Amino acid sequence: MKKKILQKISIIKKKFGDKKIYLHEPSIHIDDIKSVVKALRDNEISTYGKYTEIFEKKISNIVKNKNILSTINGTSALHLALKILNVNKNTEVLVPSLTYVSTVNAIIYNEADPHFIDIDPLNLSVDVIKLDNYLRKKTIKKNNKIFNKITKKEIKFLLLVHLNGLCCDIDSLSRVLKKYNIKLIEDAAEAFGCFYKNRHLGTFGEVGIFSFNGNKVLTTGGGGALVFKNKKLFKKGFNYATNCKILRNGEVDYDDVGYNYRMPSMNASLGISQINKLNKFKEKKKKLFHFYKKIFSKDDHIKLLIPHKNLNSNYWLNTIIIKKNKKISKKNLEFLFKKQNIFVRSIWKPIHLVKRYNKFQSMNLSQTEKIYKQAITLPSSPFLWR
Ligand SMILES: Cc1ncc(COP(=O)(O)O)c(C=O)c1O
Repeated sequence: MKKKILQKISIIKKKFGDKKIYLHEPSIHIDDIKSVVKALRDNEISTYGKYTEIFEKKISNIVKNKNILSTINGTSALHLALKILNVNKNTEVLVPSLTYVSTVNAIIYNEADPHFIDIDPLNLSVDVIKLDNYLRKKTIKKNNKIFNKITKKEIKFLLLVHLNGLCCDIDSLSRVLKKYNIKLIEDAAEAFGCFYKNRHLGTFGEVGIFSFNGNKVLTTGGGGALVFKNKKLFKKGFNYATNCKILRNGEVDYDDVGYNYRMPSMNASLGISQINKLNKFKEKKKKLFHFYKKIFSKDDHIKLLIPHKNLNSNYWLNTIIIKKNKKISKKNLEFLFKKQNIFVRSIWKPIHLVKRYNKFQSMNLSQTEKIYKQAITLPSSPFLWR
């Protein structure tokens, strides 16, 4: 078993060469440098400016939605999304425990309670059938609203997370949510460039968010964006992202407590050159996925996760699962890769296993806990495919 794995790691090593290989690095070239230098020369540095608007237009063209607002990072975008949807201390938000901590923190920033739900091990997203059964047993409908029978709080939203550029069957999930009158918010931080049935992930709910952090498919340094279902939500988001600043009788005034969240022009200038290369990045990452697929196909011990048949993925992080056997642990496998200078990482630690967060409501999370023991992500930078 170990010998076979070592053989596979050596094929990967041969492809990537001798230098240290990280999980996902930014691909920065001369066009990116020129774009940022131009912003510096134009004095487009801090606060939003002309490059912020150009970048938002480019996102609009890809996502096919006019209501785009770029932010300083994905975390602030999540905070804002929940804020403008009136998530508050009387609200419970369904959320997978298997996610990056920002998803859950955004719920807590708004004083609401996360309510953890289990994942489908095939796509690291929501287990739709389990969710349906759970909601049938644990909730009660009053005046077309859904309440948790135990806490008596309203369950208004599911905050869906598209991990590693994968997603669940969105059609089935939408049917279940409609049945319970629960609205969808999408954390598509890891899913820019992903299309489910030709529709961009992040555009299925009320609000979706993206991250353009340095480790994402494309980067603005730090950065994020929101996509809103309609103009009304966009206007509300815009207002809160710019300190709720308004002009009243020719004077600056503020109509609520807002935030300084809009993306600075200099960051956006990097986004402009990066987004022009999105398809190129995706093509290379797809080839890398097929390279890994070939290596791990017919492997008795390790399985590579394959995107849903209706998903045109960005292949953000290729993920392998150790099949049910006791011959190798996740730690051992990580060690074997790291010994060859290939940096791999466990999938996110489930948030309900973190002490500060384990007090919140949750369904049985057996699949989340099991997959956490079995899954690691592999280096997936686009430039690794040469
Ligand atoms: C699923 C998920 N949500 C939210 C975020 C937060 O994005 P950012 O790092 O841009 O704040 C990340 C970032 O890694 C993420 O992976």
